[in-house]
Amino acid sequence: MKILGIESSCDETAAAIVEDGTKVLSSVVNSQVKIHAKYGGVVPEIAARSHIEAINPVINQALAEANLSWDDIDAIAVTNGPGLSGSLLVGTLAARTLAVIKNKPFYPVDHILSHFYANFLSNNQIEFPVLSLTVSGGHSQLVLFKDQHTSQILGSTTDDAVGEAFDKVAKVIGLSYPGGPAIEQAAKSGQSKFRFTKPRTQNKYDFSFSGLKTAVLRQAQAQIGQDYSFPSFKIAQHLSKQDQLDLAASFQATAIDILTNKTKLAYDQYQPKTVALAGGVSANKALRDSFQQQFPKLIMPNFQFCTDNAAMVAAHGFFWSQVNQSANPYQSDIKLN
Ligand code: KG4
Ligand code: ZN
Repeated sequence: MKILGIESSCDETAAAIVEDGTKVLSSVVNSQVKIHAKYGGVVPEIAARSHIEAINPVINQALAEANLSWDDIDAIAVTNGPGLSGSLLVGTLAARTLAVIKNKPFYPVDHILSHFYANFLSNNQIEFPVLSLTVSGGHSQLVLFKDQHTSQILGSTTDDAVGEAFDKVAKVIGLSYPGGPAIEQAAKSGQSKFRFTKPRTQNKYDFSFSGLKTAVLRQAQAQIGQDYSFPSFKIAQHLSKQDQLDLAASFQATAIDILTNKTKLAYDQYQPKTVALAGGVSANKALRDSFQQQFPKLIMPNFQFCTDNAAMVAAHGFFWSQVNQSANPYQSDIKLN
């Protein structure tokens, strides 16, 4: 079964064709990172407009790269949320329209869960139950999958997602956008010498990163001899290179500790056969190393399928189709952030 996946929830316009949820026939990602970099984060209005320009070329390219025509496509899957409303509208409208005019089954899927399905693109033999941690710019979520179709959310983001914290900390200490790769690079030359307290959450599997983000901000203000009233956007120009590197290393080490410890807690309680990592932050090598040390059977997507892409959406659509009827493309069920 060949599924065309479409993704437009944030700042990547993507289309991909995946066979039977595992074999990637094509995967095209048009990233808007360069457009948003000068603003230090995603500007929703610009993102939506860029999706409109990119969506048709990206879908056509996905068909061309797979050397397929519309007749070869068995169904269309699309991210229907969560995400930026204007961005989601472009992808869902395109997918719904195509499903109607090309007469294809239509599978709207959840973006955060789709990140987990990226694991099927590089691992054929996944042993269930799987404990999966999805860490991205918008979400930190711990999910227990009993099988390919049945999932239970154990914990979620209560404030800032971990990727968002990477991006915001990077901005404060003067690193480029997106902050994740920039902090990972800087951390390699820094020392994890600042101690930040780890947050407590009411549900022990929920995640909170806004306190850590503020703790880094306060430490940065202290390093330049200022108090909390000093504006955050001016800190970077006064911070020494060494302080910048050490703050990056200390923040990253604390964030990885939090993610590893929470996952270990759930691992001990639920005793899954496999642990999975997914989402943009799972591209972080230090996080991957920490998980590899802690969990004997760990799966992770290939780097290209960690960040937003449509192959994971097509894979999710395939597994969704195994247990669900095609949805009515005329019906809107978009989950807005
Ligand atoms: O999954 P994704 O592409 O989009 C969302 O669904 O949000 O994740 C993007 C996030 C950004 O916050 C980015 O800074 C982070 O993933 N990220 C990383 C790394 N590469 C991307 N965070 C830490 N280390 C990385 N190497
Ligand atoms: Zn994502």
